[in-house]
Amino acid sequence: MTAKLPIYFDNAATTRCDPRVVEAMLPCFTEVFGNPGSRNHGFGWAAEELVETAREQVASLLGADRKEIIFTGGATEANNIAIKGGANMYAKKPAGETERGHIVTCAIEHKAVLDPAKRLQKEGFDVTYLDPPMDGVITASQVEEALREDTILVSLMWANNEIGAISEIPEIGALCHDRGILFHTDATQWVGKMPTDVVKDNIDLLSMSGHKMYGPMGVGALYVRRRRPRVRVQAILEGGGQERGFRSGTLNVPGIVGLGKACELCAQEMDSERERLLGLRKKLESEITSRLDTVQINGHAERRLPHLTNISFGFVEGESLMMAIKEIAVSSGSACTSASLEPSYVLKGLGIGDDLAHSSLRMSLGRFNTEDEVDYAIDAVVNAVNKLRDLSPLYDMHKEGIDITKIEWQAH
Ligand SMILES: Cc1ncc(COP(=O)(O)O)c(C=O)c1O
Repeated sequence: MTAKLPIYFDNAATTRCDPRVVEAMLPCFTEVFGNPGSRNHGFGWAAEELVETAREQVASLLGADRKEIIFTGGATEANNIAIKGGANMYAKKPAGETERGHIVTCAIEHKAVLDPAKRLQKEGFDVTYLDPPMDGVITASQVEEALREDTILVSLMWANNEIGAISEIPEIGALCHDRGILFHTDATQWVGKMPTDVVKDNIDLLSMSGHKMYGPMGVGALYVRRRRPRVRVQAILEGGGQERGFRSGTLNVPGIVGLGKACELCAQEMDSERERLLGLRKKLESEITSRLDTVQINGHAERRLPHLTNISFGFVEGESLMMAIKEIAVSSGSACTSASLEPSYVLKGLGIGDDLAHSSLRMSLGRFNTEDEVDYAIDAVVNAVNKLRDLSPLYDMHKEGIDITKIEWQAH
């Protein structure tokens, strides 16, 4: 069988909504269209029932109680509530003062964590941004060294969105619990793909998103622990007091129903999918590394998401490579800023040099990818890299044994 083009290998950016999810959502637009806040008629009750079923489905995937789930507009919003709402609730001093408390996070978090942390810095909190090791795994001992008497919150992602490295979340959670420190994890890339048990994993607050797990965009959830300890956060949105006051605004019933169904499907298919995708990723990596020289797989060799790989191809521009394999959707290790192409701050944060960061591709597989697509991609990537290297004088010099890092270039 040959692969059907184009191929989608960018599942860490977003996933295709599963048709079974869409099917579950459809009645919410035209049949069960009531406002779940309408407590005095059947249309409202029917919508509320669907929302509560979804809440149970989300809770069950996380090992939580359904009262611990707050629906949000995605992981960005969940992170904002957890970090800003958590810090303000547990602050040592009131707003307007300095030394309000210490927060620990990491330099390679998603912007949806880094930007709220920066905001809190401006508002009198002190933030430590851990410097990750080159494999991207944050360990409990690294966190322990950063904790202080006045630490009130630790926020660390479970799995990194660019390299898939998996941090020691249950161990870090245990450490925080021992010290009475609030622990939040951005589990956007983890939930639905890997087993999660918020109780055993010692998590107080967890963010997740529908569109990374075959559900719809614009809906997500925040888990807020209710027992041992009971966690509180300040609301960011004020208004109708929905979601027990944590998140005002009329509920996105179709989105929530879709998220619930997506969670149910992930729970059913997680084990077999994990194995299948790991097999495909390993094939992709082993074929590419055996057929090409000067390639590097970024992130920890084992502690990595099964479906994601980030590979640097020496002597090749990631952007040119992406253009050469246009029929395969992937991400590059560069980000467009207004003026230039910047190497990704995540790869830079890991200590990967600008050149290798610019030469890297992230390929993230998902439920709808097949082995034929992987086979096609292997050939396409290998051929494109070889063609681009044929045009590269630097690669020729490298092959002749010249260390190009030692060359002193002359300006004319
Ligand atoms: C690790 C991580 N956190 C947060 C987000 C933001 O999620 P959402 O698009 O649901 O706001 C993403 C998505 O790119 C992500 O990968």
